[in-house]
Amino acid sequence: MASKFTPFLCRSAPRALRQLQRTQWRAFSVTVPARSDSLMVHRDTPENNPSIPFKFTPQNEELIKEVLSRYPSQYKKAAVMPLLDLGQRQHGFTSISVMNEVARILEMPPMRVYEVATFYTMYNRNPVGRFHVQICTTTPCMLCNSDAVMKACEDTLGIHHGQTTEDGLFTMTEVECLGACANAPMVQINDDYYEDLTYDSTVSLLKALKHASEATGAKPGEAGLASGTGTGSAESPSAAKEQGRAYEAGNVQVPTPGPLSGRKSCEPAGGLTTLTSEPWGNETLRKDGAL
Ligand code: FES
Repeated sequence: MASKFTPFLCRSAPRALRQLQRTQWRAFSVTVPARSDSLMVHRDTPENNPSIPFKFTPQNEELIKEVLSRYPSQYKKAAVMPLLDLGQRQHGFTSISVMNEVARILEMPPMRVYEVATFYTMYNRNPVGRFHVQICTTTPCMLCNSDAVMKACEDTLGIHHGQTTEDGLFTMTEVECLGACANAPMVQINDDYYEDLTYDSTVSLLKALKHASEATGAKPGEAGLASGTGTGSAESPSAAKEQGRAYEAGNVQVPTPGPLSGRKSCEPAGGLTTLTSEPWGNETLRKDGAL
């Protein structure tokens, strides 16, 4: 009998011992950390609650018709993003009333609109200043010293990430890659990119915007200096457009968006290093006879 059980005991005893000694691990999960500073939920505030009425202007109503005409009528909810953007440009930020109005127009549940607006960080669900300064601090910009740009903003504006200046002119936000890494470090101010920044050029840029804003006398939220998105500013001044988006106000020159280092676009800063000679035509053969 004993010999019958011996192979079984030989196999199972070590296994049982191993299990006794094994450290017991228990996996547990935590909530995914929020990557944005905005709360995912809405909290009623005096300036952002559903009882504040919102209607699109007649001009924007026309634009909405044009946008909706691009989608089959049964899929008009696909226009939720452009409509939210229009609402933000008109109202200054994507308030709960803007979202509800978009849901009404597109005949979709408001929750579906909230889901879109809370997912994309370019929808500002709280009021922002007239100039929304978004500083990229992702790796390429960080390696090119975005810390200096952050510091320049903090020193000049006296605010930190997520804050708005008391005069309502500037809101400062730290953001992830804005897709202009070849011109790092950079900031986005409203619709415009300013690139190849240094501490000094950032300070000059912010001062120019502030002085130009004061010179025009426009109050925060009014249409005025910079191209508008999320700021309540609806249009750039025509002068800005005529001059390639650089403009002068009150003897203050606000630079053209783009690289502030003097280079054009994202060309090499030191000039061309390759492809400097006349390219061969399709029919040209090498002179050494190899081809
Ligand atoms: S990392 Fe700053 S624009 Fe891409």
